Amino acid sequence: MKANASAARTQTITQPKLKPPLKWAGGKRWLVPHLRPLWERHRHRRLVEPFCGGLAVTLGLRPERALLNDVNPHLINFFRWLKQGLVIEIPMANDRELYYRHRQEFNRLVREGQSHTRRAAELFYYLNRTGYNGLCRFNKKGAFNVPFGKYGRINYRRDFTAYKEVLAGWEFMSGDFAAVPLDPEDFVYADPPYDVEFTQYAAQGFTWEDQVRLAEWLAR
Ligand SMILES: C[S@@+](CC[C@H](N)C(=O)[O-])C[C@H]1O[C@@H](n2cnc3c(N)ncnc32)[C@H](O)[C@@H]1O
Repeated sequence: MKANASAARTQTITQPKLKPPLKWAGGKRWLVPHLRPLWERHRHRRLVEPFCGGLAVTLGLRPERALLNDVNPHLINFFRWLKQGLVIEIPMANDRELYYRHRQEFNRLVREGQSHTRRAAELFYYLNRTGYNGLCRFNKKGAFNVPFGKYGRINYRRDFTAYKEVLAGWEFMSGDFAAVPLDPEDFVYADPPYDVEFTQYAAQGFTWEDQVRLAEWLAR
């Protein structure tokens, strides 16, 4: 246990910091310094996030093993490509015309069953960084419909190879939280959508019944 803790400290010191690559509503980067003391005693465990969102917590805590789930399949597709050391090749600029062209292509890929591709992951990153407020919103037909953003300047990142080593021991899945297979030894951090009007994450939203279902699932 002691050896584990000191190895973990060394790891924290030597590994370069990696920022969450996306803008994500409800991101908990600010909470990481408060979670770290709780996590340090358990960092030999697998970290499970049933609502991983923009990955701010897992990237902050840097577990060796993690199981990360989110109901948003495009987000998880992006992370799966990140794990492979994504280098973005599409043109990226804070330009209205380019934004709508890329949005159209992303929606075509989704319609044609190509949302698991690297191209879709690249477009998802670009749309997330360039669209209005980093929102991720889909219409009833499943088309991404966020308008062009209002940023003065955007620093796009193309080379994500630094993430490859860090994500090597992390598994990704996409679905409802209740399908996440938990092990009794897991350390679970659950950050569901808030119980407020804003339920933009999933087309069907996250209802009060979902909050109750989650409380029951966590209490098992
Ligand atoms: C508050 S955010 C999590 C933010 C994350 N902790 C971070 O730091 O970026 C909640 C996440 O729950 C996801 N979500 C919504 N309904 C879900 C469900 N039924 N099962 C799993 N994930 C869900 C949303 O897509 C969203 O990414």
